[in-house]
Amino acid sequence: MPVAKFVGETSNDRGNIIGEIMSETTTWMIETIDLSRIYRNGDEIRALDTVNMHVSPGELVTVMGPSGSGKSTLLNVIGALDLPTSGQVYVNGHEVTKIRNKDAFRSSTIGFIFQLHNLIPTLNARENIEVPMRGHLGARARKKRAEELLELVDLADRMNHLPNQLSGGQRQRVAVARALANNPPLVLADEPTGSLDTKASLELMNLLKDLSQSQGTTFIVVTHDLNVARQTERVLVMEDGKIVRQDIIGSPIEEDLKQWQHSRLGQRILARDEALLSNLELSTHQIEALQKVLAPTNG
Ligand SMILES: Nc1ncnc2c1ncn2[C@@H]1O[C@H](COP(=O)(O)OP(=O)(O)OP(=O)(O)O)[C@@H](O)[C@H]1O
Ligand SMILES: [Mg+2]
Repeated sequence: MPVAKFVGETSNDRGNIIGEIMSETTTWMIETIDLSRIYRNGDEIRALDTVNMHVSPGELVTVMGPSGSGKSTLLNVIGALDLPTSGQVYVNGHEVTKIRNKDAFRSSTIGFIFQLHNLIPTLNARENIEVPMRGHLGARARKKRAEELLELVDLADRMNHLPNQLSGGQRQRVAVARALANNPPLVLADEPTGSLDTKASLELMNLLKDLSQSQGTTFIVVTHDLNVARQTERVLVMEDGKIVRQDIIGSPIEEDLKQWQHSRLGQRILARDEALLSNLELSTHQIEALQKVLAPTNG
């Protein structure tokens, strides 16, 4: 990008220019425009009510909200398992409702993980992971890929186990590996930690975080668990079919440090109180980082 172009322009111009460049060049992994899904059997139910949202490639986003608020409906519509009543949904640049062969689109672009893992009980871990690869890869390539995926989710030593010979957390990790089988850019997970205890939930979320960073996979995770949501960068909160709020979450330490914002200590660090800062024995770089975290955010 020709940075020199900006020299001499006010910072506002510069912000506008960068904004324009971004909106021209950014390809969202998911974009919805006034997306609605209305059920009309009996009373009218607005399961999704003019939802507008954007998700960047490689983001890990959680969706929270009370039962019946439309979370599963949102995933189903994004995943082309259900059709919207009105509005548009774009996934990886394609308008989902206009895609003719939705099965082919789903199998190449989207992996699904559900609350109950849906593994086939008569197939072992490796064979379960191979299922979505049928029709895409030959037998030997399927086996190799399944083994790599089991390695990735740290289950190489459980490859020949049947689902009922695995713990709940392990079964969910097999489900993650299966969702990644065809290397989809997007994975939709509906309460994947719903049947897991706290420790296994956090392990699963750490795995998804690692995968989003190492593989660039985009994850949308529906959860009721605030501890699960806190592991992600952004939480979309739904109520009555609408996204009513979005919370940006930093790392837990960052969140804790933000609590200092309103304290005298926080205020003095922000005000660059020299006497205090020299007492803290921090490097200039550390002080700058601290001030950045403490600085009140707008919106
Ligand atoms: N097939 C259907 N026919 C009629 N109404 C439906 C249908 N599917 C869902 N709904 C209604 O749409 C609304 C949203 O449902 P949805 O399953 O998306 O909620 P949710 O947020 O996933 O809830 P939960 O946390 O309980 O899973 C609910 O009021 C539900 O009753
Ligand atoms: Mg649901």
